[in-house]
Amino acid sequence: MEKGEDSSTFKMGNSAQERGLPYVPDCYVVPPSWQPCDSNSEIVPTIDVSRLNGGDDERRGVIREISLACQHLGFFQIVNHGINQNILDDALEVAKGFFELPAKEKKKFMSNDVYAPVRYSTSLKDGLDKIQFWRIFLKHYAHPLHRWIHLWPENPPGYREKMGKFCEEVRKLSIEIMGAITESLGLGRDYLSSRMDENGMQVMAVNCYPPCPGPDAALGLPPHSDYSCITILLQNLAGLKIFDPMAHGGSGRWVVVPQVTGVLKVHIGDHVEVLSNGLYKSVVHKVTLNEENTRISLASLHSLDMNDKMSVPCELVNDENPVRYKESSFNDFLDFLVKNDISQGDRFIDTLRIKD
Ligand code: OGA
Ligand code: NI
Repeated sequence: MEKGEDSSTFKMGNSAQERGLPYVPDCYVVPPSWQPCDSNSEIVPTIDVSRLNGGDDERRGVIREISLACQHLGFFQIVNHGINQNILDDALEVAKGFFELPAKEKKKFMSNDVYAPVRYSTSLKDGLDKIQFWRIFLKHYAHPLHRWIHLWPENPPGYREKMGKFCEEVRKLSIEIMGAITESLGLGRDYLSSRMDENGMQVMAVNCYPPCPGPDAALGLPPHSDYSCITILLQNLAGLKIFDPMAHGGSGRWVVVPQVTGVLKVHIGDHVEVLSNGLYKSVVHKVTLNEENTRISLASLHSLDMNDKMSVPCELVNDENPVRYKESSFNDFLDFLVKNDISQGDRFIDTLRIKD
């Protein structure tokens, strides 16, 4: 390590990944135990969600598949989701265009304030966490669109229109999938619909992972789970890995999520783990890097309103199944994020668990 080259050397605007450094600084190097990977992707379930709108039997079949995936991995891929390929391609294109803008343009959005509705930053909390990650991101609120869109980047031209269209479509899809999830828990399709539809939050994480000169040493994102109810993700290249906790007799293993054009990924977040009282698991995932290409991902996080608390439904509680989680809101998660270092394995869900 060069003298004085710790995390604080790599604050946003000056990070190794933005500058395209030809080497990986020591503060980006993750413990080798974070890198093992059994690259078996066959087990990643792929679900045809168009069948949710089929006959009763068909819908029941899909809901069973979703329920099994949520119990096992907390993750599934979806096909026939109804979002046109052009909308997906356009959103990826304007995202890439944004990151290619001159630094001066991007600077306007730079912020380390996790409560800011629009912000550009790097790593997780750049310059603050012990380990840095080879990621650049723009996060913006997206629902209701008219409330936030005027705060989004105007450049590249078409960013607002194309990203806005994608956000709207993904949001509609999230309501469908959440309806299937609450139905699968025996709570009915509309259990959360008003709290997610009119009043819910949608946060779009637009992620960019530039080529990395030492892809085996660093990570794009460390193992973490999302606080959301669900996250719907679109990627242009493989790089996402999910943890299968039941493999190898319970010691678990990492699984590569393949890249297939048009396929979207659904992550179960911490708030669905709470909603299900622990039956469904929020998926632990991470992002690996490559030496050649820039990877772009659009992660759309869907949750209840900022201060609306997710709690275990009384319908799911009885003598054998006591309440296993404390209630919490999106805002509680942001407070957690300020005080904790996710790169050190701190997880929001662990703070919610009620010990027996
Ligand atoms: C995230 C995330 C995965 C990816 O933004 O929370 O996990 O593939 N992204 O970029
Ligand atoms: Ni994530």
